Amino acid sequence: MMPTTCVVGLQWGDEAKARVLDVLSADADCVARSQGGNNAGHTVVIGGETFILHLVPTGVLRPQVLAVIGNGVVVDPKFLLEEVSELRRRGVEVGENLRLSDRAHLVMPYHRLFDGLAERRRGTGKIDTTMKGVGPCYADKAARGGLRVGDLYQPDLFRERLQAAVEEKNALLRGLYDEPELAWAPIYDEYMDCAQTLRPYVCNTEELLLGLLDQGKRVLLEGAQGTLLDIDHGTYPFVTSSNASVFGAMSGAGLPPHRIDQVVGVMKAYTTRVGAGPFPTELADELGERLRESGKEFGATTGRPRRCGWLDLVAGRYSARLNGVDCISLTKLDILSGLDTVKVCRGYRIGGEAIDSFPAALNELETAEPVYEEFRGWPDDIGRARRFEDLPAEARSYIEGVEEVVGVPITMVCVGPEREQVILREDRQGRAGHTRREQSDRRGRRPN
Ligand code: IMO
Ligand code: MG
Repeated sequence: MMPTTCVVGLQWGDEAKARVLDVLSADADCVARSQGGNNAGHTVVIGGETFILHLVPTGVLRPQVLAVIGNGVVVDPKFLLEEVSELRRRGVEVGENLRLSDRAHLVMPYHRLFDGLAERRRGTGKIDTTMKGVGPCYADKAARGGLRVGDLYQPDLFRERLQAAVEEKNALLRGLYDEPELAWAPIYDEYMDCAQTLRPYVCNTEELLLGLLDQGKRVLLEGAQGTLLDIDHGTYPFVTSSNASVFGAMSGAGLPPHRIDQVVGVMKAYTTRVGAGPFPTELADELGERLRESGKEFGATTGRPRRCGWLDLVAGRYSARLNGVDCISLTKLDILSGLDTVKVCRGYRIGGEAIDSFPAALNELETAEPVYEEFRGWPDDIGRARRFEDLPAEARSYIEGVEEVVGVPITMVCVGPEREQVILREDRQGRAGHTRREQSDRRGRRPN
């Protein structure tokens, strides 16, 4: 692991980022979240026990790691406190090892309410959000009407800003939605209660992270969602409301670009999407059903069944290039075991024309027909493989095929949900696999 490593999803979220982060955090001093909120559902399996994290960084599961919720995250305080209690109940220590940015925005009860109301208004064009209030919270942040964690400790200011926000929401509730109005006072009381319990965690996390880097500590940045859900680079408007790519990691943790030494892209060996929006390689048949069942592709946050399909490398190449990933972690390869044929999409046909770039226009993506390359399947259970050579030849060909199309080395392959079910290809250096010195010499001169 390089001093600062950023882990980003290359698909529509649920790439098993947390599983990769858990492996990498064995060598980390700190794991920081930088965007998203409790719309994320990050699953880690340790010794048969499953932990699903939503707001607390996965690093909390490693005793030596400081877990940081950065300024770019949107925080539902009551939810956060419940998550902390639940972790403690399960024997995970949470105390000094958790830090929360005073600049992070607060998800308010009306954000959750408006998430649902906006979906209702969208009707058939709905996004299928997770209903956690994340979109409306980021909307208020951009409109400069948001409330921040630090505001909790200035009660007069907090009350004033809350009253102004509730007044505006009430005008919308009356005029636009024909719904009952809200009272600000119970919200105020609830948030003041949370403020007390949260206080020990709150600090200037940007300064904290820079300080750790100055001391030569190793920091992992935990991406939430994925590049195709990124508000700028994803399949807009069927996206989340933050920069879920490497770009969000910088602004949302408060780190300048040159302090990020390595970008690890996480790619699942097939594709899933939860919620609405175009999905060219979707398998709306028995095969899709099989992937969903064996991959347990049900939302970790909402329980919704995920849409499943073949690996889309048009999208994969786009995401890998955009994030400038140095290496790829390929996850859930074991789920493809037992199929006669495994396919990857190498290009699209749109309106009869062959295209190998990922289009911005949704109608093009909606009508894109995937052009597949077929690989021979592998029958064996691969869960015990620990070296690349342990894998059946067909699985190795698949991995090498993906590498070739994306043009980035696959340095980690996950063959099962447990911590140790992973192949680390030490010989397969990522593009950032240099010493720190070489790395800094190389800065600003990445090949793509
Ligand atoms: P992790 O971090 C998969 C999807 C929702 C919806 C869209 C917008 O676990 O990979 P939002 O509630 O964010 O406004 O919903 O984004 N979505 C995710 N899909 N994994 C996630 O997180 C997601 N977070 C949001 O399903 O389509
Ligand atoms: Mg998820």
